[in-house]
Order: sequence, then structure tokens, then C-alpha cells
Amino acid sequence: MKRSARTLLLVAGMLVWGMTSVGYTPSEAAQPATIKPGAGDDLRAAYATALEVAEGKRVAEASCTRCHGANGVSTTKGVPHLAGQRPAYLHLELRAYQSGARGDNAMDGAVKFLSDDALFKVAAYYASLEPAQPSATDGAKAASAKPDPVQAGKAAAAGCAGCHGEAGISKTPVTPSLVGLDPKYFVAAVNAYKNGQRKHDMMKSMIAAVREADLNNIAIYYALQKPARAQTPAPGNQKAGKAAAAGCAGCHGDQGVSGNPATPSLAGQDAQYLAAALRAYKDGSRKDETMKASAAALDDSVIKDLGAYYATLQPQPPRIRKPLTTAEWTQRCDRCHGINGNSTDPRLPALAAQRADYMEKVLHAYRKGTRKSPEMAAMSDMLTEADVENLAAHYSRQKARAVVYMTLPSK
Ligand code: HEC
Ligand code: HEC
Ligand code: HEC
Ligand code: HEC
Repeated sequence: MKRSARTLLLVAGMLVWGMTSVGYTPSEAAQPATIKPGAGDDLRAAYATALEVAEGKRVAEASCTRCHGANGVSTTKGVPHLAGQRPAYLHLELRAYQSGARGDNAMDGAVKFLSDDALFKVAAYYASLEPAQPSATDGAKAASAKPDPVQAGKAAAAGCAGCHGEAGISKTPVTPSLVGLDPKYFVAAVNAYKNGQRKHDMMKSMIAAVREADLNNIAIYYALQKPARAQTPAPGNQKAGKAAAAGCAGCHGDQGVSGNPATPSLAGQDAQYLAAALRAYKDGSRKDETMKASAAALDDSVIKDLGAYYATLQPQPPRIRKPLTTAEWTQRCDRCHGINGNSTDPRLPALAAQRADYMEKVLHAYRKGTRKSPEMAAMSDMLTEADVENLAAHYSRQKARAVVYMTLPSK
């Protein structure tokens, strides 16, 4: 009898979770497993009684508030808010600390001597509290969020267009197009000017103004522009160039499009720049052993012809994936964590209004594998450092919506 009453209430409790599920769309990809009644005791903390919550409060006051704050709202760097966090998630994490699956010195000591019953109650207590609201400092940090890589790259490349052309399609003879280059080659080339391995005073001073953090973004920006041939004259005999290029195809591709990020594509490149580069390899002023060997036997008219030939070929975009913007990332994160990080699954953590410093810390831990979760390992693996900061800032400033946390009547 007591058991069936409990089951009934469990169903009622599930309706509460169901009612609060904002825009939950089970057809979307990457959905968390749906909540099933009788899914072991994983969901126990979601259906606690008022008495159990009151007992949980006593556990919290004895063992947790000194770090997690009076009402589960943390004021300490690296310590998460617990107020309003999803109950089954809290219980699972407390068990993970206790079993050592999630290691943390501060937490390990705190849960060491608590029974599973105490863990369940303290989880229910914290879940029942009103969640924290976004902090002013996290809001300020979000306002200075890093721009998306492609936009940042475009802005930082503004000063390059005068010589390299809009979108990297050169209109200036003896100046290379930058479109169609693999970002890895691009970054290596810029660094070669910087460290003096490639001698060119003008480029060296141009590059000196570029911030290290922007370099990769500039490379990605150019790699994502629609390639076109350089709009510059191409003196020389294309036909003769084509014949001479047979020995180059193995590395630079038979249409001048290289498959190797370390070897530049030549298709559509400015003809006179290509010729100048070959002369520089030949006389050793541009140092590269591979190219020195290839250029050594070329006489000046063949060099010109090679430049003319490659300039006629159609450049192709390098094969790279467009980095996601923060907005595109959050759409993916929200599939599991709920709209704006307000999880509707009691087993999945809410992110809304969580401390940004704490979220950055755990995202790094997932990436390094020190905090284990197959879902989060897959998601965090693809994040750049800027993504981690932007995502943590984004979620920290979302309004946290309390789930309707209804306790069962105490027996
Ligand atoms: C000495 C300080 C300290 C005490 C005491 C402490 N905690 Fe923590 N707690 C932390 C820190 C630091 C973290 C973050 C650890 C990490 O990165 O894994 C944490 C993380 C957690 C988490 C994970 C939250 C999440 O969003 O994943 C839970 C749950 C938690 N604590 C509950 C408790 C409970 C319940 C108690 C009392 C029984 C308690 N803590 C006592 C410092 C403390
Ligand atoms: C004043 C004209 C000028 C400006 C401005 C300029 N460059 Fe250049 N850049 C050149 C010339 C000329 C070369 C060819 C140098 C050589 O022969 O090594 C070059 C070469 C390069 C190369 C090597 C390409 C290859 O195929 O190996 C890269 C990469 C590059 N520039 C990036 C940039 C970036 C990024 C900026 C803006 C921050 C910039 N440049 C601004 C004139 C310029
Ligand atoms: C064994 C592989 C290999 C062969 C063969 C080869 N190259 Fe290269 N080439 C490279 C590599 C690697 C680089 C990049 C070197 C550097 O960083 O300066 C390069 C760079 C170049 C560049 C400079 C491009 C730029 O954007 O600055 C030109 C031009 C060039 N090669 C033309 C040729 C021609 C023409 C031939 C045939 C006569 C040829 N290469 C044969 C590997 C090769
Ligand atoms: C496929 C479902 C899924 C997706 C998509 C997903 N997560 Fe998670 N996330 C989880 C699960 C499950 C956990 C709890 C894992 C654990 O126990 O450590 C989690 C935990 C987290 C935590 C730790 C919360 C805490 O309180 O400690 C953060 C932060 C987080 N995710 C951020 C993100 C971000 C940012 C994205 C998007 C880039 C994302 N997640 C996408 C399933 C997902």
C-alpha cells in the first residue's frame, strides 16, 4: 500500500518535471535519455519528502555551507552554486566524489563520512532552493567576450587588404594572394617572417602589429573566403610552364592544389610572386631544403613560365571546418542542458547562472579527462580556449529558472 502510494506520487512528480520542460523536443538529435519511471534509485532525490529535505538542510549546515555559501550560493572562486541545481544530478555527483570517480580534495573530505542517505537528503535540500542569479562580475566578463574567430580574423586582417587584396585576392604584382592557403601553412609562413627565417623587412613589420591571438583567426578568415585567381599580370609561357610543372605535382598537386597543409597550394597565385619565391629558394635567400633542390635546376625563363602556368589554375578552398560561433555552440549544449542552460532533466546539470570560473575549470577537466563523462568529453574536445571562456560567460549570465520542486508529503 505504502509502495503504491509512492509510485503514484512518483508519476505526479514526473508530471511536474514534464510541465516545466520548456520547449523540450524529443525529435532533436543528441537528446538525453528520457526519464523512465523505475530507473533504479538514480532519481530518488527528485522525489524527496519535506522531512527528508529538512534533514538535508541540517547536513548542509554542518558540512557544506562554509564552502558553498549560506543558501547554496557560492561566493568562492572555483566553488559551484548548488542552489536549484537538479536533484538527481547532485546526488550522482556526490556519489562520484565519494567513490573517487570525480576527484577533488575539498569535496572528498566533505563527503567521506556521509551515508548515502545523507547524500540523497542534502542533494534534495540544495535542489529545493531558489537558484542564484547572474552575478555582476560574470555579466561584465560576458560583455567583453571574445568575438567569434572568423569575425575577429576579418577585423585583424583589415590592414592586410591594401597589399593582399580584399578577401585575400591579390591585385598587386609580386604580392601573394592569401586565399586558398591552408591555415597551418599560413601561420608557419607568418612565423617565418617573425623569426627571420624568411627575410622580408616589410612583412616583418606588418606582422609585428598582429597580436599572437589573432594570427590563427586571420588564417581561418582567409581560408574561408571564396578563392579566385590573383588579378595580376602573368608574363611567361603557360604551356612551357605546364610541362615544367610535372615534377612539382607530387607535392603541390596536379592542379596546383596541395593536399598537405605544410605544402602551399600554388593554383591562382600571383605569377610574379611565385617566380620571385623560386628565385629566392634557388639563391638560398628563402631557406628550404626541399624547394632548394627543386628550384636549383630551373633557369630564369622556366621560372617565369611556371609562375604563368600556376596563375591560370583555379584555386580551391582548403579543407577546414568553419569554427562554430558561441551562438551555434549553445544550440548544441542546450539540447542536453535545456534552453539557456535550464535543464529539464533532473539528472542533467543546469548551467544557467552558474559561476563562470567554475564552469571554465570543469570544461578544462573534461577536456583533459580528469573529470570523466563520455558526453562531455566529446563536446569539450572540440572547444578552443576562447570557446570555453565564451560559453562559461554565456551561461553564467543566463537567468536561472527554478524547476517546480515539489516535495512529497512526509509519511
Ligand atoms: C572545503 C570546501 C567544500 C566543502 C566543505 C564542500 N564542498 Fe562541495 N565543492 C567544493 C569545490 C571546490 C567543488 C568543485 C570541485 C570540482 O571542481 O570538482 C565542489 C563541488 C561540489 C558539487 C558538484 C557540483 C556540480 O555542479 O557538479 C557538489 C554536488 C557539492 N560540491 C556538494 C557539496 C555538499 C553536499 C557538501 C557538504 C556535504 C559540500 N559540497 C562540501 C568545495 C567544498
Ligand atoms: C605593404 C604591403 C603588405 C602588407 C600591408 C601586408 N603584406 Fe603580407 N606580403 C607582402 C609581400 C610583398 C609578401 C611577399 C614577401 C616575400 O617575398 O616573402 C607578403 C607575404 C605574405 C605571406 C606569405 C604568403 C605565402 O604564400 O607564403 C603571408 C602569410 C602574409 N604576407 C600575410 C600578411 C598579413 C596577415 C598581413 C596583415 C597583417 C600582411 N601580410 C600585410 C606585402 C604585404
Ligand atoms: C618534395 C616536395 C616538393 C616539390 C617536389 C616541390 N615543392 Fe615547392 N614547396 C614544397 C614545400 C614544403 C614548400 C614550403 C616551403 C617553405 O615553407 O618555404 C614549397 C614552397 C613552394 C613555393 C612557395 C609558395 C608560397 O606561397 O610562398 C613555390 C612557388 C613552389 N614551392 C614551387 C614549386 C615548383 C614550381 C616546383 C617544381 C619545380 C616545386 N615547388 C616542387 C614542397 C615541394
Ligand atoms: C549529449 C548531452 C550533452 C551535451 C550536448 C552537452 N553536455 Fe554538458 N553535460 C552533459 C552531462 C551528462 C553532464 C554531467 C557529466 C558528469 O557527470 O560529469 C554535463 C556536464 C556539464 C558541465 C558541468 C556542470 C557542473 O555543474 O559541474 C558543464 C559546465 C557542461 N556540461 C557544459 C556544456 C557545454 C558548454 C556544452 C556545449 C559545448 C555541453 N555541456 C553540451 C551532457 C551534455
